[in-house]
Amino acid sequence: MRLLVTGGSGFIGSAFIRLTIKSEPGTEVLNFDSLTYAGNLENLTDVAENSRYHFVKGNVVDPQAVDRTIVEWQPDAIVHFAAESHVDRSIISPQPAVETNFNGTFQLLEAVRKHKISRYLQISTDEVYGSINEPAEADETYPLRPSSAYSASKAAADLLALAYFKTYKLDVIVTRASNNYGPYQFPEKLIPLMISNAIEDQPLPVYGDGTQVRDWLWVDDHCRAIQAVLKKGRSGEIYNIGGSLALPNIDVVEKILTAVGKPNTLIKKVEDRPGHDQRYAITSDKVMTEMGWTPQVEFEQGLMKAVEWYRKNTDWIERVRSGEYRDYYEKNYAHRGTNLAQL
Ligand code: NAD
Ligand code: DAU
Repeated sequence: MRLLVTGGSGFIGSAFIRLTIKSEPGTEVLNFDSLTYAGNLENLTDVAENSRYHFVKGNVVDPQAVDRTIVEWQPDAIVHFAAESHVDRSIISPQPAVETNFNGTFQLLEAVRKHKISRYLQISTDEVYGSINEPAEADETYPLRPSSAYSASKAAADLLALAYFKTYKLDVIVTRASNNYGPYQFPEKLIPLMISNAIEDQPLPVYGDGTQVRDWLWVDDHCRAIQAVLKKGRSGEIYNIGGSLALPNIDVVEKILTAVGKPNTLIKKVEDRPGHDQRYAITSDKVMTEMGWTPQVEFEQGLMKAVEWYRKNTDWIERVRSGEYRDYYEKNYAHRGTNLAQL
């Protein structure tokens, strides 16, 4: 099996590659990644020397680079992770999200069509369903009501992928996961940001009242589900992948403070995210029934593992937070009154 993985140097893509190299001895992986601020070759140090792992620096919105790579690599399947994945960045500047998430998907689908690649997996998100009122949970047929440029660009990309299945009979599958957490997550996202700020006695900026609910999924559980869908998923189908654990943000932040051993007084309620979705909730019955998959890591256990990883890897955090991270932090948090002058 020859896999082309886009965005393999990011958080989930790198976890997927590490897991695949370890658990699938018959699989070779080519990681195609443009190395944006979120892409980091250090995330793949564990497999960098493995003869079944390969890397090409390239941009999914560049049709020549995509085409050349596919001609040379001859993949059996493509797993498309590459994206501008952060909602807050897409609010500050929507263009990169629209360009990469929609146009990047379009360029890949065109290449799949041209080269008749046998399987294309679109890695998507539960954010495409938008905010869901209690007690409902979205299954795969739930209406799409995205709220941000990030989630709207992901929803648009999903629809395009499914249109290519219908019109061109391509072997396309879409997966929609909930909020992932675990090692190597860029510290702009809630859990790694709060852990690293707590470790450094910095304020923990909770948007609005902190009652927003997210479903948390350990990243390796997500990657196992992707592996199963890649092998056994049905063409043209959508599979939700959730952690079956819904928690208000404020509870997550308090659990992090307890795990790090810091006081709740570090919590700072700040101006809310514009268009903030109040509640995400999906049902993963389909992937569980068809693939026999279940999430294995309980949230408390996963959080301890994450805290331990970020404690041990302060050098990694320092390196990824150097450079443009400061500019981003200023843009996102300064007007909310959270100053990272000490970072
Ligand atoms: P990430 O931001 O950590 O990594 C994104 C990767 O894509 C980086 O390596 C980056 O360099 C690369 N990339 C970005 N633009 C590119 C381009 N134009 N060409 C080539 N490479 C490019 O993202 P993540 O959190 O690992 O998310 C991966 C995928 O999973 C995304 O599609 C995201 O929408 C989806 N997803 C994420 C979550 C989550 O909780 N993080 C949940 C559900 C779905
Ligand atoms: O649901 C899946 C999605 O989860 C993925 O598609 C996205 O790629 C991923 O980034 C994530 O999106 P969220 O917007 O839910 O994740 P984030 O970690 O940015 O925020 C989680 C919640 O925490 C959200 O309600 C906003 C809140 N938050 C976030 C940050 C960064 C805060 O209260 N303070 C913060 O500083």
